[in-house]
Formats: sequence, C-alpha cells, structure tokens
Amino acid sequence: MENKVYLEMRNIKKSFNGVKVLKGVSLQVQKGEVHALLGENGAGKSTLMNILGGVHQPDSGSITIEGRDVKMSDPRESKANGVSFIHQELNVVPDLMVYENLFLGTEIKNKFGFLNVEEMCRQTADILGRLGVEIHPKNYVRELDNSYKQFIEIAKSLLHKSELIIMDEPTSSLADHEVERLFTFIRNLKETGVSIIYISHKLKEIEEICDRFTVLRDGELAGAGIVKEFKLDQITKLMVGKAISNERFEHKESQEAVLLEVNNLSSEGLYKNINFSVKAGEVVGFTGLAGDGRTELFESIFGYRKKYTGQIKVRGQVLKIDHPQKAVKAKIGFVPKNRKENAIIKDLSVIHNMSLSSLSKFNRNGLLDQSLERKRFRHYKDLLNIKVHDPNITIDKLSGGNQQKVMLAKWLEADPDILIFDNPTQGIDVGAKQEIYEQILALAAMGKAIIILSSEAPEILRLCQSIYVMYQGEIVSSFNGNRATEDMIMSYATGAKREDEQIG
Ligand SMILES: Nc1ncnc2c1ncn2[C@@H]1O[C@H](COP(=O)(O)OP(=O)(O)OP(=O)(O)O)[C@@H](O)[C@H]1O
Ligand SMILES: [Mg+2]
Repeated sequence: MENKVYLEMRNIKKSFNGVKVLKGVSLQVQKGEVHALLGENGAGKSTLMNILGGVHQPDSGSITIEGRDVKMSDPRESKANGVSFIHQELNVVPDLMVYENLFLGTEIKNKFGFLNVEEMCRQTADILGRLGVEIHPKNYVRELDNSYKQFIEIAKSLLHKSELIIMDEPTSSLADHEVERLFTFIRNLKETGVSIIYISHKLKEIEEICDRFTVLRDGELAGAGIVKEFKLDQITKLMVGKAISNERFEHKESQEAVLLEVNNLSSEGLYKNINFSVKAGEVVGFTGLAGDGRTELFESIFGYRKKYTGQIKVRGQVLKIDHPQKAVKAKIGFVPKNRKENAIIKDLSVIHNMSLSSLSKFNRNGLLDQSLERKRFRHYKDLLNIKVHDPNITIDKLSGGNQQKVMLAKWLEADPDILIFDNPTQGIDVGAKQEIYEQILALAAMGKAIIILSSEAPEILRLCQSIYVMYQGEIVSSFNGNRATEDMIMSYATGAKREDEQIG
C-alpha cells in the first residue's frame, strides 16, 4: 500500500475553563489504515477526536484532509468533510428496520413522493454485502447483536461517503465473538480505502488490527510509530511512563468466616443450580462468554432480579433479597458493568456521584455535610488517581476511565463487606488497571469478600484465588487460581469441556 496522508492535525491546543487539556498535539493518518490513538485515562484522546468531529473547537492549530485546509465548525461540517464519529452510545433506532436506520432522514422517494423501499433495500444490501455483513435489510435492529448495531452506524456513514471513521472504544461492551466480527468488518472496510482512527485500552486489539499508532500523554504527543515495529510493553511505556507487570498477585490467607453462600440458585432461562461460597478476605472470579449468565446471577444476589429459587446466605443467615436496598443493608455492594447505562448519573456532579450510595454518612441533621463529602472525595481522588480539576462539574465531563474510577470510589465509600465488581476495568488504561487491582486486593486484605465478574481471562487469572467458569447458565468448572491457565478457562467457557475440579 502506498503511503498517502489522508488526515493531518497540527499543533492542536485546547483548554476547558483554563485547564490545558491538549497542549499542541499533532496526528497524521494515512489513507486506508487503521490508526490507534492511545493514552491513559484523561490523556485527551476523546477531546482530540471531538475537535476532529466538530463537537469542540480548538483554541489553535490546523486540520487538513488530503492537503486541503478544513474547518470543523460543527458535526455537520465534519461529516461533510468525510469524517464520521461512531460514539459509544450508538445512535441506531432499535424499533426500525436496518434499511430504515440507514436512510433515516435521507429517505429515497419515487416520483410520486412515496418511499422507494425497494431501492433503499437494494442499496442497503449492496453496502452490507461489500462489507461482508450478513444481515437482511428488513431485520429489526433490536433483534441484532450489539456489534451489528455498530456496523449499521458505520454502513450509514459510508452511505454518506465517509472516508475517515473514528471509533472510540468500540469493543468495550462487545463479547469476544462480536469483537472478531468487528475486526473482519474493519479489514473489509480498509480494503475500500477508508481510514480508521481506533481508540482502545486493550493492547492486544491494537496488535491485531492497527497499522500505526499515536500515543498522547497528559495532552502532549508522547510518540508515534508502526505497530509491528514495537513491542506492546514499549507502547505501554510510552503511555504510562513505566513498564507494567503482568504477574499474578499474591494473596493473603483468607479467613474462615463465610460471608456469602449460595445454594442451588436457579432462575428459569438465566442460570441453574448455582453453588458457591466466598470467605472473608477471598477474591473469587466468575468468567465465561456472552450468555453465560454470570451477570444475571449476581443481579439476583443484589436484588435487581426477584425471580429465583434456591438460597442466598449472608454471614450464615438466609436472606430473601428482592430489592437492591436490602442488599445494601446486608452490606453487599455491586459495581455494575456499562457505567453509562447502569451506574453514573450524568447530570449530577462528580462528588455527588461518589456519595450517592452512602448518603446516611453525609447526613448532618437532614443536611448534606459538604465539608465531609469534600474530604472523602479528596481521599479517593488521591487513592485512585482520579483526574478532575473541579469535583463540582457534572460527571459526564470526565474522561471515560475517570468516570469508572468515581464509580469505584462510590462503592468503596459505602464500605460493604461483600463487593461484586462486574467488569471493573472497562475503559480503564493499563496503568490505572494495576492501581485498581491493588485497591481490590487491599480490600480483600481488610477482610472483605470480593467477587470479580469479567470476560477477560487474564484479568481473572491475575486477580482471583478461586475461579468459576460458567457456560450457558451453569458453573461448568471451578479452579484454584494458582493452577488455572487461559487455555483451561477457554476450553470450559466455550463448552468444549465440562467437569468439576474441586477447588482446593
Ligand atoms: N467538556 C469538558 N469540560 C471540562 N473538562 C473536560 C471536558 N471534556 C474533557 N475534559 C477534560 O479533558 C481531559 C481529557 O479528557 P478526554 O475525555 O479527552 O480523555 P481520554 O483520553 O479520552 O480518556 P479516557 O481513556 O478515560 O476516555 C480530562 O481531564 C477531562 O476531564
Ligand atoms: Mg475517552
């Protein structure tokens, strides 16, 4: 492939309320390449892309596309210049068919003014066909997997002649098989000469799908290069300034007290015959592929789902938990996955998002004790390295990873005895991941029972003493963390093997 520069952003600067977020960043993207944009949480990746997408205006700097100077005054102008931004919150309409989504707002009509469904379906099939996507134009979007929803947005942008597509953490809520499908799609997209800017904290993905990379660090350019010419730990070093270990953590001996015990828990169509227990100080992991039922299982234990049979015992006592409030009362905490939909309250300040699960602590004669609240927030800001200049701004202004850290702070502040983390490091950079793991282990060392739900086997392997693998709603295997390997986990998670090795 000849190297032809498609996009150039030069010396881009941007401040918000006097805080310098981009301090003169440059980015060069070639035609038909997948370009990784990397950096720690809060480094400025999304801000740079928001400037390219016309969402924000730079304070200074220039943008050229194929040598032409362009200005992105608003998202519409950015689109007109061939750029399309696939946000994490997808804009597809579930209750419309695929072709209706593609032509929403640009419907084709025949000479009598009626919708030309046939032509729209033909063009939809054509574009999906070229990208190797096997879905019917008349499928309803709500019936499709998540990854297909992204494809529809991308197909829509191609229909409008996009030549550069920005994907900001496109795989953060996809299952493994969906990621593979997305990658096939991206490869086909490249073939058509489209350039892609790919933001992700999953370095394995960078190795697999990206051609070149640019690293931002604290609003500055930290490095750029060809992915194949670098080792992943070199790239990590550019991002965080030091090498990050991948070793398993050592665990302290767990205590004898069983804090959570589950006997024969079943819920029709979701999971069945679940038995396990977690002791004080223990870190237990649950993993599996999409549809394994682990999230639903723990949603029941936390009281989000009422319909189940079997027994949940907390500190030896049988409890009927049919509401999250009861779970909180029983000192159970739950950090859910997909913080955007499930956890953060967008219009609320950063600091109130933190105190939300422990309001009684901050209650001083019916009023909120703001000075205590500020003090507690400062504690977590230092502990978790949360990047925020003013905790009174609404949480949606924080970078994605920092929002996630505030969610962790919220549950640490609530101080439960049993803590369930569903995908705790979603959107968290490699350096901060390490810090969060250390925090989790510190909680265990304090005698809390920790449960980690994750689809990332390496994460489970590094962190957990006992590992349960689920497949289609059942626990198909349990391992001692020291003995487990990624291959062992995968062979059970895919349903290829099943048996129960006793944890011991
Ligand atoms: N609208 C805004 N108002 C104030 N500050 C903002 C705004 N948008 C972004 N910031 C700040 O700019 C910095 C960079 O944020 P950005 O979202 O670009 O980071 P990021 O590299 O995408 O991080 P992540 O990996 O966590 O998504 C952060 O400190 C963030 O709080
Ligand atoms: Mg971001």
